[in-house]
Amino acid sequence: MEYIEPPPALKPEEQKPKEKFLKVLLDDKEERQIVIQKARIRDVEEILELVNAFAAMNLMLPRGPQYLYENIRDFVIACDSKVPVYSMTETKELLHLIVACGSLHVLWEDIAEIRALAIHPDYQHLGLGSKLVEVMKEEAKQLGIRHLYTFTLTEDFFKTLGFRPQDRSELPHKVWGECSRCPKYFHCDEIGMVLDL
Ligand SMILES: CC(C)(COP(=O)(O)OP(=O)(O)OC[C@H]1O[C@@H](n2cnc3c(N)ncnc32)[C@H](O)[C@@H]1OP(=O)(O)O)[C@@H](O)C(=O)NCCC(=O)NCCS
Repeated sequence: MEYIEPPPALKPEEQKPKEKFLKVLLDDKEERQIVIQKARIRDVEEILELVNAFAAMNLMLPRGPQYLYENIRDFVIACDSKVPVYSMTETKELLHLIVACGSLHVLWEDIAEIRALAIHPDYQHLGLGSKLVEVMKEEAKQLGIRHLYTFTLTEDFFKTLGFRPQDRSELPHKVWGECSRCPKYFHCDEIGMVLDL
């Protein structure tokens, strides 16, 4: 029997990010209006595209339609209602485009997780990520949740919102349920962060 050595795994800096984002034209002069709202079933496909484009760059967990349908009530989205994009045929079209999403997933009586926070690259550093976290924070408070946590690679972003790093071993076991489904389980590079409400 012949054994062929598999090629060595690429280091993160050698991996080419797969750019899968819809091309957005931001030089358009038309007034744009970004609306933040709860997601609906019709939004599932676009949310998946946004989240999985980041997942392809190893920045967040990939998600599938079953997860989205089952958890759609967790999601908030930001839509740019007048965004011009290039269609497949390279003609300019005006579409409703989901430019950001995030989800609040309740895990136990006093703890909820912020998951799947993703802002389209052309809409980053406009305050949208902070705004979505703020909206989810308010929803958590109204539900009576006392602690929010997240696993993230963007520690500094969450620090600006008051989250503090927390050792995984100090997080309740309930939060590990999602980890056991994660491909990074044995070599996790994400940091656990907590915010007390
Ligand atoms: C991280 C992310 C959610 C931030 O969203 P955003 O809308 O760009 O953030 P905001 O505009 O609200 O940023 C507020 C501040 O947080 C900090 N910040 C924002 N993005 C950051 C990043 N990637 N790394 C470190 N700090 C960041 C900055 O201080 C920023 O202020 P500035 O714009 O004046 O510099 C967004 O970059 C993103 O979707 N990244 C890819 C997916 C991802 O990493 N998700 C994180 C959860 S797993």
